[in-house]
Amino acid sequence: MSELTAVAWDGDAVRYLDQRLLPHEVRYGRARTADEIATAIETLAVRGAPCIGVFAAYGVALLRRTIADDGTFAAAVRRVRQSRPTAVNLAWAVDRVTAAADPLEEANAIHAEQVAVDAAIAEHGLELVAKGARILTHCNTGPLATAGGGTALGVILAAQRGGKKPRVFVDETRPLLQGSRLNYLELQAAGVDALLIVDSAAALAMKEQEIDLCIVGADRIAANGDVANKIGTYGLAIAAAHHGIPFYVAAPRSTFDLTIRSGAEIPIEQRAAGEVAAFAGARAAPEGAAVYNPAFDVTPGHLVTAFVTEYGVLRPPYVESIPTLEFRPAIGTLSSAHR
Ligand code: MRU
Repeated sequence: MSELTAVAWDGDAVRYLDQRLLPHEVRYGRARTADEIATAIETLAVRGAPCIGVFAAYGVALLRRTIADDGTFAAAVRRVRQSRPTAVNLAWAVDRVTAAADPLEEANAIHAEQVAVDAAIAEHGLELVAKGARILTHCNTGPLATAGGGTALGVILAAQRGGKKPRVFVDETRPLLQGSRLNYLELQAAGVDALLIVDSAAALAMKEQEIDLCIVGADRIAANGDVANKIGTYGLAIAAAHHGIPFYVAAPRSTFDLTIRSGAEIPIEQRAAGEVAAFAGARAAPEGAAVYNPAFDVTPGHLVTAFVTEYGVLRPPYVESIPTLEFRPAIGTLSSAHR
């Protein structure tokens, strides 16, 4: 497991682990054109908000080397930038690399920063996890999802390394099973006591399994604390509030979109019907079934107990604590353009 590398610069291509094939098969792909980069993101071969950002950063650095004409380069960058709409890390990383004097140096800096930021998130999150804590989590937020050490799962993995021996209830995360395929894989590799549950068992687990806290990641967080994350997160937050269980969101500064005031402004990706109407290649609904398949939902900030960021734990009122992020110095290795 530990040898898995989510994304890496590979000279004339960006190398990526095809996460669609896990846990059955470890296969790497090489993206060289805007189409190949965007397709890897659209198809979820590369996924997880920070990981998409790092991959796209290398992608734009590569395109700057291979496309001489400025107009053609701008069109290629647009293709990559628009490949998924909800995770703000994508546009953030693409814009940073596009504006940089040395695009590859900037992409390397974004990747190195992600590693440092994830380590800081894990350290700050530890204060929320007691010894033997029973934790419920959703989707995949580990190293595969960030190209660093992970966000929400990074906190859990740090708790395990620190001897806290958490017990983790892992939502399978329908429809594409990022929880059972990827989160469970990363937990298992770290020797964490993990129990896989179907998403619809989460509320009962909160009622009967003495869950101490929920912790999840995010794809975009508005200035008021509204959180877009993998579909199902909103329902978890409601169930947690009902049961009096703290609900934490772990995310880097790059996932906060301070240009939007609330979650109503977050574009929610709608995905293909086939992801729901079929399962493992076999039809799971009658031919022609109409499907509603939003990939993300928005959890209102008032349901979030606290945010774990690289700068520490942010508490309500979020309209006051979140905007302070704008003035924080960046963490990690910074390129000359952002020092
Ligand atoms: O559709 P995905 O798999 O890209 O969705 C991923 C999530 O929703 C994660 O929780 C989020 O990106 C945070 S990853 C640290």
